[in-house]
Amino acid sequence: MPSLNDATGSRVLFGGDYNPEQWPEETWLDDVRLMREAAVTSVTVGVFSWARIEPRPGERDFGWLDRLMDLLHQHGIGVVLATPTASPPAWMGSRHPETLPRGEDGSVIWYGSRQHFCPSSPVYRAYAAAITEDLAERYGDHPALRMWHVNNEYCTFCWCDETARHFRRWLRHRYTTTEALNEAWGTAFWSQRYDTWDEVIPPRKAQYLRNPSCTLDFRRFTSDALLECFTAERDIVAARTPHIPVTTNFMPFWTGQDAWAWAREEDVVSVDVYPDPTDPLAGQYGAMIQDMTRSQARGPWMVMEQAAGAVNFRSVNVPKPRGLGRLWSLQSVARGADAVCHFQWRQSRQGSEKFHSAMLPHAGEHGRVHQEIRQIGAELSRCGERVAGTHVVSQVAILHDWESWWAGEQEGRLSARVHYPAIVRAWHRALWEAGVTTDFAHPEHDLSAYRLVVVPHLYLLTDTAVDNLVAYVRGGGVLVSGFLTGAADRDDRIRPGGMDERLRDLFGIRMVQERWPLPEGEEVACDGPRPFRGTLWAEELEPSDAETVAAYRSGELAGLPAVLRRGRAWYVSTLPEPAALSELLTRIADEAGVRPVVEDLPPGVEAVRRGDLLFLLNHAPGPVTVGLPGQYRELLTGGPVDGSVRLERHGVAVLA
Ligand code: GAL
Ligand code: ZN
Repeated sequence: MPSLNDATGSRVLFGGDYNPEQWPEETWLDDVRLMREAAVTSVTVGVFSWARIEPRPGERDFGWLDRLMDLLHQHGIGVVLATPTASPPAWMGSRHPETLPRGEDGSVIWYGSRQHFCPSSPVYRAYAAAITEDLAERYGDHPALRMWHVNNEYCTFCWCDETARHFRRWLRHRYTTTEALNEAWGTAFWSQRYDTWDEVIPPRKAQYLRNPSCTLDFRRFTSDALLECFTAERDIVAARTPHIPVTTNFMPFWTGQDAWAWAREEDVVSVDVYPDPTDPLAGQYGAMIQDMTRSQARGPWMVMEQAAGAVNFRSVNVPKPRGLGRLWSLQSVARGADAVCHFQWRQSRQGSEKFHSAMLPHAGEHGRVHQEIRQIGAELSRCGERVAGTHVVSQVAILHDWESWWAGEQEGRLSARVHYPAIVRAWHRALWEAGVTTDFAHPEHDLSAYRLVVVPHLYLLTDTAVDNLVAYVRGGGVLVSGFLTGAADRDDRIRPGGMDERLRDLFGIRMVQERWPLPEGEEVACDGPRPFRGTLWAEELEPSDAETVAAYRSGELAGLPAVLRRGRAWYVSTLPEPAALSELLTRIADEAGVRPVVEDLPPGVEAVRRGDLLFLLNHAPGPVTVGLPGQYRELLTGGPVDGSVRLERHGVAVLA
C-alpha cells in the first residue's frame, strides 16, 4: 500500500489548494514562480473543477488541466490531484433534480453553492465514477502526480426517497428481520412498530421526539453511505495507479463521519485545521485535532488545509498576527504532520471566499502574509528531512467514539448543555496543560501499549468495548473515566443500574441512583485533597468498595462521592473546573508512571517529542524562557542551546 512518504519523498510537503481556473493563464506563470520562491513543493488541484472539466454532460475539457499539470511539473511542483465530485455542475441539479439532497422536512437543497449531492443517488454516483475514471486515465502517468484527493470534506446528509431505500438496505444488512429491528429500536414504545421494511423511513421532521435508536442508525448509515462514495472513487484511481496514495480531507472533529472507520480505507489521513486566532486556547484545540488525526493515521499525517490568515466562516474573522501561522504550522509538524498545506494559494477576488485569506493575499507578494509563508516554506525545507516519517510516542490514550457521540447528543436527553466535543476538549486540555502528550483511541482498540487511558465521556459502550476496558485495567493499566460512561449499549438501550455492571464492578459502584445535570449558571462545590468546583453534571452514586477521592460538599448530594477510585480505575462524576481537572490528571498520570515531556514548563508552552527532536512551542501571550537540562542544537537557526532557551511571542524551538 502506498503511503504519505511516497508523496513527500521523505521531506515535509508544503503547499495548498490551487484553483487557477479563476485566473487568466498568464497569471499561472506568476503563480509557479512565486510558488518556487516560497518553497512550495506541491499543490492540490481540481477540488471544485467539475463544471470546468465537464461543461456539459459527458463532454470533457482537459486542455487547461493538461497545460496546468505540465507547467507545474516543469517548475518542479508536485500535484495532489482531486476528483471534483464535491461540487456537481449546475446541469446535474437542473437535469437530474433527484441528485439534489433533501432536508429533514423534504425541502430541496439547491445547487448554487457546493456539496449539493445526495450520497445515495445512483445518477450522481455514475457521473462521479465516470469523471474519476477519465481523470485517472488521463493523469495516471503524469510525472507531477503525487497523490489523489477524493472529493472534499464529505459532509452531506439527505432524507430523500432514494436515501430511504438505501437506508432500508443498510438496515436489512444490519438486522436481517424487522423483528430484530423493532427489538433494537424499542419500537414497542409509542406504537412505532414496523411491520414491513417499506414502512421504514429516515428520521424525518416529525411531530415530537424521534426514535433515538433510529436516529443513531441513521448517523451510522450516513457515514457509511458517504464512505461508499469515497471507496468507489478510491477503487477507480487505485486500480489505475496502485503506487499513488489516496486521501480525502476530514473536517476537524466533525460529527458526520466515523473517521476511525474512514481512516482504515485511506492511504493517507488528512485534515483541515482552522483554530480561531481569538481563542486563547487555540493552541490546545490545534493540538487535539492533530493528536486525533495522527492517531487515526497511526503515523505521519497531512494538514490538507489551514488558513494563512483569516477565515470567513465565523461571524467575525480576524487575521493571524505575525508569527502565529508559523507557530501552528510547526506545531502540526511536531505532532506528526508530514505535509502542511493551506486553503488556498492565491486569494480569490470573486466568489464566496474572497475574504478568506490565502498564501498569496490581495496584498500581493510583498505583503506580510506571503512573506511569512515564505519563511514557513524555507524552514520546513530546512528541517524536513529530519522529521519526515518519524513518530510521536504517547503513553496516554484518550478514548473517543463517534457512535457514542451520536447516541449521546439526541433529543430528549437529560441536559442539552452537554456538548461532547467540549467535554473531550476539556480533558485533552487538562493533559495538554500538564505537558503530557496524548494519543486518541477507539474504545475497542488494543490499549495495552498505554500506561493511562482516559475516557472523557462515552455514554454508549459496546460489550466488546466494556470487556476491553476491564481487561486493560486487569492487565495493569490505569483508567480514568468521566460522567455518564457506559450508560447505554450499542442499540442505545440503557443498562440496568445506570451503568454497565462490569464497569460498576471495576469502579466500585453499586448503583447509579440518579444523574443530576446542573442548570446554566450552577456549579457544585466539592471537597477533596483541595476543594474545587464541579460543572455541568453531578451524579448520585452509591459506592460498593470504592475509595472516595473527592466528595460533593453541599446540596442534595452532600457527602456523596464526586470522584472515586477502586485501585487503578477512577471515576469522575462531574466535570471539574479546568485547574482541578488538570491537577487530578497530573496526579493520576504520575501514579501511572507518565511524566510530562519537559518538567516545569512555563504556562502556555507546549513541548512535544517527535523522533529524536524536541519541539518547544510558545502559545503564551509574551516571550518566555524555558529551562532545559542538557545541551541541544536549534535546527532552524543552527545555534547551540545550553541550559535554557528563550522563545519570543509565538516562538518555536526545534531542538536536536
Ligand atoms: C474548507 C474547504 C475549503 C474552503 C475552506 C475555507 O472547509 O475544504 O474548500 O472552503 O474550508 O476555510
Ligand atoms: Zn437523497
